[in-house]
Amino acid sequence: MRDSLMRRAAHKVATSQRVEEVVTGKPQLAEIVDRFTAGDHPAKAVVVALDRYGKGMDICFAQPLAHIDDRGVAERVTSDYLEVIQLASAAGIKRFDISFSLPSLGMVLGSGGPQLALDNARRVIAAATAVGATATVEMGPPEQVDLTLDLVRALRAEHPALGLTLQASLRRTVNDLDEFLSERNRVRLVKGAHPTSGDEGWDTNHQIDRAYVRLLRTLMESPALPLVATHDPRLVSITHELVRRSHRTKDDYEFQMLMGIRPLEHRRLVDTGRRLRVYIPYGDQWFDYLAHQLTEQPRTLGKVVRQLVSRR
Ligand code: FDA
Repeated sequence: MRDSLMRRAAHKVATSQRVEEVVTGKPQLAEIVDRFTAGDHPAKAVVVALDRYGKGMDICFAQPLAHIDDRGVAERVTSDYLEVIQLASAAGIKRFDISFSLPSLGMVLGSGGPQLALDNARRVIAAATAVGATATVEMGPPEQVDLTLDLVRALRAEHPALGLTLQASLRRTVNDLDEFLSERNRVRLVKGAHPTSGDEGWDTNHQIDRAYVRLLRTLMESPALPLVATHDPRLVSITHELVRRSHRTKDDYEFQMLMGIRPLEHRRLVDTGRRLRVYIPYGDQWFDYLAHQLTEQPRTLGKVVRQLVSRR
C-alpha cells in the first residue's frame, strides 16, 4: 500500500512539465532515455528494432499514450502506426507485431469514440496483415476493460488473428480468458500496470503473482498461443516448466519484454533457443512512458535524480 502511494507520488513529480523540460535539456540523461524508449519518430523505432532483430529477437512496436483529447491525436497515432509498418517491412523485419491501445485510436473521445477506434484499428490491422505482421490490443484501466473487450470481439470477427492483452491483477480475468482460448489465439498475459480499487483487483503483489501462474497454466494447457509478457524471474522459470509439461515447442509460445528492462535476460532467452519479442515504445508521448517506467523502479529513478541535480 505504502509502496503504491510512493510510486504514485514519484510518478506525479516525474511527469510534471518542469521535469520534462529539465530531462530534455540534460544530454547526460540521453543514455537513460535511449535505454527505455525509441524516441518520437517511427523511423527511429525501426532503427532500434533492426538492432534487436539482428540479435535474433522478434519485435513489437507500440505507441504508449497518456493523453488523448481530440481526433487529431488519434489520426496521428494511426498514421504513425501505418508508417512504422511500411518502414519495418521495407527494412526486412519479419513477423513483427503492432501493439495498440484502443483509447489511443480514439475510443475515449465521446459517443463517436468507439466507432472511430474501430475504424482506425481496422486500418492498422489491415496494413499489418498485408505485410505478414500481427497486431495485439493493449488493455487499459479497469473501467475500460468491458468496452475494450467489446471492440476486440468486433475486430476479431473480421480479423481472427488479432491478439489481446489480459491482466492478472483483475479478478475478472479468469472468466474473460475463457472466451479467448481457441486454436492459436494470441493472448498476452501481463501483471497489469493500472491501479485497481474495491473488489475488482487482487490486494497484494503476491496474490497477483499467484493469479498470473493460474492464468498461465490455463493458457499453456489450452490450444491458444501464450504471449508471456513479464520480466519476473520466477514467472519466467515457471513458464519454462509449464512449457516442458505441455510439450510446447519454441513456436508454440513466446516471451515478451519491454525495451531496456532486463536486457541481459532478453539475450539469455534468445541464446537458449526461446522466442523473445522486445516491445519498442515510440511516439511523441515517450516522456510519459519513460516517467512511468522509472517510477516503477526506485533504483533507476535515483540514478535519474542524481543526474538531474548534477551540475556537470
Ligand atoms: P514486476 O513488476 O514484478 O517486475 C519483475 C522484475 O522486472 C523487477 O524485479 C525488475 O527486476 C524488473 N522490472 C520490471 N519493471 C521494471 C522497470 N520499469 N524498470 C526496471 N526494472 C523493471 N500492462 C497493462 O496493464 N496493459 C497492457 O496492455 C500492457 N502491455 C504490456 C506489454 C508488454 C510486452 C509488457 C512486457 C508489459 C505490458 N504491460 C501492460 C505492463 C505489465 O502489466 C507490468 O506492469 C510490467 O510488465 C511489469 O511487471 P512484471 O511482470 O515484469 O513484474
